[in-house]
Amino acid sequence: MLIPSELPPDFTILALETSCDETAAAIVRGGREIVANVVASQIDIHRRYGGVVPEVASRQHILALPSVVAAALAQLPGGLAHIDAVAATYGPGLAGALLTGLNAAKSIAWARDLPFVGVNHIEAHIYANWLATAPLSNLADTPQADAPQFPLVALVVSGGHTLLALLEGHGRYRLLGQTRDDAAGEAFDKAARIMGLGFPGGPAIQQAAAQAPGGVTLPRAWLRDSYDFSFSGLKTAVLHQIEGRQNRESRVASKNLPQRGKAPGLAPAAPPADRSSDKFIAQLAFAFQESVVDVLVTKAVDAARAYSATAILLAGGVAANARLRSELARRSPVPVRCPPIALCTDNAAMIAAAAFYRFADGQQDGWELDVQPNLRLA
Ligand code: KG4
Ligand code: ZN
Repeated sequence: MLIPSELPPDFTILALETSCDETAAAIVRGGREIVANVVASQIDIHRRYGGVVPEVASRQHILALPSVVAAALAQLPGGLAHIDAVAATYGPGLAGALLTGLNAAKSIAWARDLPFVGVNHIEAHIYANWLATAPLSNLADTPQADAPQFPLVALVVSGGHTLLALLEGHGRYRLLGQTRDDAAGEAFDKAARIMGLGFPGGPAIQQAAAQAPGGVTLPRAWLRDSYDFSFSGLKTAVLHQIEGRQNRESRVASKNLPQRGKAPGLAPAAPPADRSSDKFIAQLAFAFQESVVDVLVTKAVDAARAYSATAILLAGGVAANARLRSELARRSPVPVRCPPIALCTDNAAMIAAAAFYRFADGQQDGWELDVQPNLRLA
C-alpha cells in the first residue's frame, strides 16, 4: 500500500526494535505522541556472561516478540486495524537480532497491506528527542511542546556508537566526528569490568562515582582540531591505576609477612576487599566519568558554537548519565534537549518517531530490504 503524499497529523506507526538485547514494540501517533512503548530487556540473561551473547539475543527476541507486539497493540483502541504503517530497525546492530524484528515487522505489514520502512538505529536515537512524554495537547509551555528546530547538533553516545553530527533537516546529516576506537558506552562497560563493578557498566560507574568526588585524576584524549573521540587509552589508564595499587599493596603485604614458614614460590594473595579499596574504586569511577564527560561536553559545545545550532540533542544509552546531562546543560550556550531516561536506552518509540519523518518525506521500503549490521548515519 502506498503512503499518502501528505501524512495526516494522527498517522499511527507500529515499530519494532531488536538490534541488540532489548525486544521492543511501540505505537506512536503523529511522530511525537507515544501511544504504547513496550520494552522486554534481556539484561538479566546476558549479565552472567558479562556482555551480550548474539545467539542468545536472537533466540530471546523470537521468544519475546509475539507478546511484546501484542502488549503494544493492546494499548491502541482498535489494535492493528488502526495502524497506518509499520517500521523496524534494519541496522546497525547484531545481524541475527536485527533479522528477527525486521522480518516480524515486514510480515505484519505484508499481512495487513500496510506501508513499511526500515530505520537506522543511530538516527532513531536522535529522534527520541522528538517524542513527547505526555499527549501533545497537555504540553503547553513545556520544553517538549515544540519539535526541535534545525540546524541542530546531535551527540549520540551509546554502547555501539559515539558521534557528533550536524542535522540540517530531516534525514540530512553531516558527520562531524566519531570515535576512533571504543564507543563511550563500551568504554563505560569495559572500565566497569576492570574495576569489578559489573554489567552494564554505565549505571554501575555512575553509582560508584557518587560515593567519591575526587582523589584520582585520569587523562583526557583531546585529539586537537578534530571532533573525533578516543576512549581506549582511558580504559588502559584505569587498568594501570588498579595494577599500580595492587603492586603497592602486595609489596606492603609481603613486607609484613613473617619470614619463617612462608611457602616458597607462592604468589602473594590479592589484597582483601576492604573499605580503602572500595573508596579507591569509587575515586577511579569518578575520575573515569569526569574524563569521558569533559571530552564529550567540550566537543559538543564547540560544535554547537561553530555551526550556530539552535540546540544540542543528546541521544543514546550513555545520555542516561546524570553527570553528562548536567554538565552539558551547564556549559552549553544553547538549550540542551535530552530524552527521558527510558527513551535514551533502546526502545521502539524512537524507531517510530524516525519512521514518521521518513514516511513524511515519501520514503518507503520494499520486502527485499535486508539487515545492515554495519549501517552508518551518514
Ligand atoms: O543505546 P543503548 O541502550 O544500546 C546501544 O545501542 O548500544 O546503550 C547502552 C549503553 C551501555 O554501554 C550502558 O553501559 C550505557 O549505555 N549506559 C550508561 C548509563 N546507562 C546506560 N552509561 C553511562 N551512564 C549511565 N547512567
Ligand atoms: Zn541503541
